[in-house]
Amino acid sequence: MEYTTLNNEIKVPMVGFGVYQIAPSETVTAVTTALQKGYRMIDTADYYHNEKEVSQAVAQSDVPREQVFITSKIQPTADYATAMKEIDESVSRIGDYVDLMLIHWPGPANVENYRALEDAQKAGKVRSIGLSSFYGQEYQEILDKCDVVPVVDQNETHIFHQQREFHEQLEQDEVKLEAWSPLVEGVHDVFETPILRQIAQKHHRTTPQIMLRFLVQQGIIVLPRSENPAYIAEDIDLFSFELDIDDMMAIYKLDQEQSYFDNLF
Ligand SMILES: NC(=O)c1ccc[n+]([C@@H]2O[C@H](COP(=O)([O-])OP(=O)(O)OC[C@H]3O[C@@H](n4cnc5c(N)ncnc54)[C@H](OP(=O)(O)O)[C@@H]3O)[C@@H](O)[C@H]2O)c1
Repeated sequence: MEYTTLNNEIKVPMVGFGVYQIAPSETVTAVTTALQKGYRMIDTADYYHNEKEVSQAVAQSDVPREQVFITSKIQPTADYATAMKEIDESVSRIGDYVDLMLIHWPGPANVENYRALEDAQKAGKVRSIGLSSFYGQEYQEILDKCDVVPVVDQNETHIFHQQREFHEQLEQDEVKLEAWSPLVEGVHDVFETPILRQIAQKHHRTTPQIMLRFLVQQGIIVLPRSENPAYIAEDIDLFSFELDIDDMMAIYKLDQEQSYFDNLF
């Protein structure tokens, strides 16, 4: 595993395990497998309804809690007090503290919501704070009006929506880009994309590994999700090969520079 350092000096793995759309009844099994395969970062959210099960899997495992980096997210609220209540509820479902808490997506009171995160951090309830799906003005407003620079902005990022320009801005601001849906949810035969298959063959890897390696090689943290133990193992095995410049250039050309999921609805 390779690691990166957040702007508050906390070290995190470049690959985390996503649990969106994993049913609560399946979450303990999935997270237990992920921990066994070497994952040490888990990405959950209030919205996923499986925070308790993530916590249960970590508690039942041989891995000490302090060696697992747990991220959760509050849903946006209309004011500071409700945001703090949501933070408290999320923290209590996970345990004594949460490693990283995000605002899941922008809402009507972003600055007030973020102020609640800042105060929760001061109180030791959450160790780091950040954003999810904040772009443009909404992102900039947090940087301009709040005190703590977010450690990450978790955004839709994958071969079809590469976020290259925004990633440059985030790097200048010392905010890490975390890729959500780094495998495009596996939809629309993405794993059969001819150029990806060619590159995968060349490196004796699978197309999902090429898609993830393309991101981590640029310093982007990835959060793949799977319930299949073989896939879970495959998705973390990204550090014994490297894409060359021709591979990278070919994948850059796949960028559609827009959300892939907007087109699906
Ligand atoms: N902040 C946000 O708003 C936001 C939004 C979306 C996602 N996220 C985070 O990002 C995580 C990942 O995104 P996601 O869950 O949307 O999907 P994803 O990781 O892009 O794709 C998951 C799909 O890929 C398949 N897959 C995974 N590894 C594979 C492999 N090696 N070979 C073949 N198929 C493979 C899975 O199959 P199986 O199911 O068969 O295993 C699943 O259908 C989420 O779980 C969540 O933590 C955050």
